[in-house]
Amino acid sequence: IVVAAALGIIATQLPIADSNKLLPQMMDYKEWTVLEITLENTEQKNLDILQLENQDIRPMGSPSTPYVSRIAVSPKKLKEVKKELNDHRLSFKILTTDLSRELLPTVAASREELAHGSSTYDRYMTFKEMENHIDALSTHLPNKVKHKVKGKTLEGHDIHLVTVSDYTIDEDKSVIFVEGGIHAREWISPAAAMNLIDHLVESPALTKHIEWHIMPVVNPDGYVYSKSWDRLWRKNRSGTWFFFCTGVDLNRNFGFHWAGDGASTNPCKQNYAGESQFSEKESKAVRDAVLEVKDRIEAYVTFHSYGQYIMYPWGHTVKTQHENHESLDKVGQAMAKAILTAEGKRYKVGPAGKVLYVASGASDDWVANVTGAPYIYTIELRDDGSYGFILPETKIQAGVNDAWVAMQVIAKEVMDQS
Ligand code: ARG
Ligand code: ZN
Repeated sequence: IVVAAALGIIATQLPIADSNKLLPQMMDYKEWTVLEITLENTEQKNLDILQLENQDIRPMGSPSTPYVSRIAVSPKKLKEVKKELNDHRLSFKILTTDLSRELLPTVAASREELAHGSSTYDRYMTFKEMENHIDALSTHLPNKVKHKVKGKTLEGHDIHLVTVSDYTIDEDKSVIFVEGGIHAREWISPAAAMNLIDHLVESPALTKHIEWHIMPVVNPDGYVYSKSWDRLWRKNRSGTWFFFCTGVDLNRNFGFHWAGDGASTNPCKQNYAGESQFSEKESKAVRDAVLEVKDRIEAYVTFHSYGQYIMYPWGHTVKTQHENHESLDKVGQAMAKAILTAEGKRYKVGPAGKVLYVASGASDDWVANVTGAPYIYTIELRDDGSYGFILPETKIQAGVNDAWVAMQVIAKEVMDQS
């Protein structure tokens, strides 16, 4: 503590400054300001001020406008941050001066309790509700849905793998692997994965010759934390060597170009890569689940939000193109076109490092490298930045539809190839 105080860190990192607030409280973001910063080049995207996560700053990603980055800043730190941006000659505009007001209308009016084991897309399900639903499906449809636990988190949550296939047909099928919820606050992602499972159990044509492997909530500790304590939490909940900063960015913890460009070795950053590659239970669980079906994987998709992008490898560099970039782009464009036709939303297609930003140690590149599967995508779901991570509940259904439309295009492609 003495050392930390000497570093001047205590004041910014300790959440117990108020003596009458000894119990932890949900972050309410009252009077937090959201700034949208215009960047002139790619290097600026990785500036500390845009990536550092602490008691007073939350990085809030980039909407689908190139060279823009958002951060939320507490009233206490606003002046300082504005000054720093000015010092860097970065121009910005203010999107809101009270983030808490933006959080309120994102909750739909109806809070109906879910019948045990069922699912809903009218509101964001709790982790427990998703678990109950998975459990109910595998119990009632044993010929279609199987359920395994691929790991346990630090907080004791199960990391689930759901497989969906017509198990009455006994053959070595192609695998489409889908992963959701690796980032805590991107709630539309687990919703999209759960919704995919719901569609697949009613899609005989898509489960005859394909075995779907779906991990709907890779980061349950983070999901639960963002639901109950901090809506803008991104990482998992691992302790780090620096006591005051928590969490590893699981999408920087995979073993391919680990801790390279676009990943950080600073535990206080939102893109902290962890102590070592696969140091985290969650990334290990994904690794193990993928390796189990390594030779059968034809497609891999990971759902994120936001920005409306369909991205393919490479993400760790812009210097080389993936050897399959032509077919990756072709199928990506087909997905985007299908979404535009069916749902009226535009998704940008391209290599991850180019269309969004360079990030190393992500699941997509690792899977591409280790499996050589032909179709690998990171899909940034809705929206385009109006609400960003705080996508209102009234928009879940449309958002998960985008994902379902895209997955049908990939499934068709995989079936045509085999
Ligand atoms: N928003 C995602 C992230 O930050 C994008 C990852 C895309 N993949 C990549 N290898 N860059 O994790
Ligand atoms: Zn994400």
